[in-house]
Amino acid sequence: MQLSDTPILSNEPVGPDYRMMTLQAPAIVASAQPGQFIHLRVPNLEAGALRRPFSICDAADGRLDILYKQVGRGTSAMAQLKPGDVLNIMGPLGHGFPIPSPAAVPLLVAGGFGVAPLLFLAKRSPVKGVLFVGGRTARDVLLVADFEARGWETRVCTDDGSLGTRGFVTAALDAWQSEHPATSAEMFSCGPEPLLAAVDRRAGLWGMKAWLSQDRRMGCGAGACLGCIQKMKRTTETGEIQTYYARVCKDGPVFASGTIFWEGLKP
Ligand SMILES: Cc1cc2nc3c(=O)[nH]c(=O)nc-3n(C[C@H](O)[C@H](O)[C@H](O)COP(=O)(O)OP(=O)(O)OC[C@H]3O[C@@H](n4cnc5c(N)ncnc54)[C@H](O)[C@@H]3O)c2cc1C
Ligand code: FES
Repeated sequence: MQLSDTPILSNEPVGPDYRMMTLQAPAIVASAQPGQFIHLRVPNLEAGALRRPFSICDAADGRLDILYKQVGRGTSAMAQLKPGDVLNIMGPLGHGFPIPSPAAVPLLVAGGFGVAPLLFLAKRSPVKGVLFVGGRTARDVLLVADFEARGWETRVCTDDGSLGTRGFVTAALDAWQSEHPATSAEMFSCGPEPLLAAVDRRAGLWGMKAWLSQDRRMGCGAGACLGCIQKMKRTTETGEIQTYYARVCKDGPVFASGTIFWEGLKP
């Protein structure tokens, strides 16, 4: 993990609600893995303001990309930053996705900006697969052309039908599974918790491995404050289900299917 002052190379809009920021961060790029994140100090907030976590969307040639949505004070301040401004960032942080197995079709399942770490994963994957991406509207469906340019099949869904198929991305995933019942596949997902819980459930039903990346409000980002704990579960040798807690920032953000205890969500 590095802590460094990194110059901004660009900070361009991607549609009306998102931006792609590119940072010159060679030390972090050198060890970054898909699914890891950076924790950045937003300039021009009050002293003591918490850092903000963002998934690494790409890391190559000393440059690191993050794709972010403007949702509040921190991300609005970030949108004002210009090339040449300097950001203090910590990273790479957390445990990311395993690299997809060449023996299985990788199914990437994204909701909204959850597509960001999955693009980095697609770039490192030894095999091409299918991207299932969902958003509320067409404005929330991002980077699809980047996957297609790399030869990935894409299936797009929106809640309002403004792009792709109307409905949840899990319906497209179910359709793929019924078209390919005998194909060996594994899932990699990042998005809102109900989506992750739905993918987890399907992994159990289909006997498929899945890797789920959680997005949680964070404090320290480095395992010290316990501000990001997640209830987990494991089965003992006697078949009893035990629960325990993990830190999303340090033990995750990527967890294996069957290990997250979904409170108030199916399953
Ligand atoms: C591991 C990880 C990776 C992430 N990757 C990305 C990414 O690639 N792109 C991206 O746009 N965002 C990502 N996020 C979420 C991002 O960190 C928050 O959107 C950001 O910190 C909000 O800062 P803000 O000051 O603008 O919002 P605030 O003013 O703090 O909050 C504004 C609104 O956003 C909500 N919010 C704040 N933090 C989160 C969060 N972590 N998840 C969901 N809602 C939140 C608040 O509840 C509130 O409604 C990631 C979060 C984590 C933990
Ligand atoms: S954010 Fe502090 S322990 Fe995870």
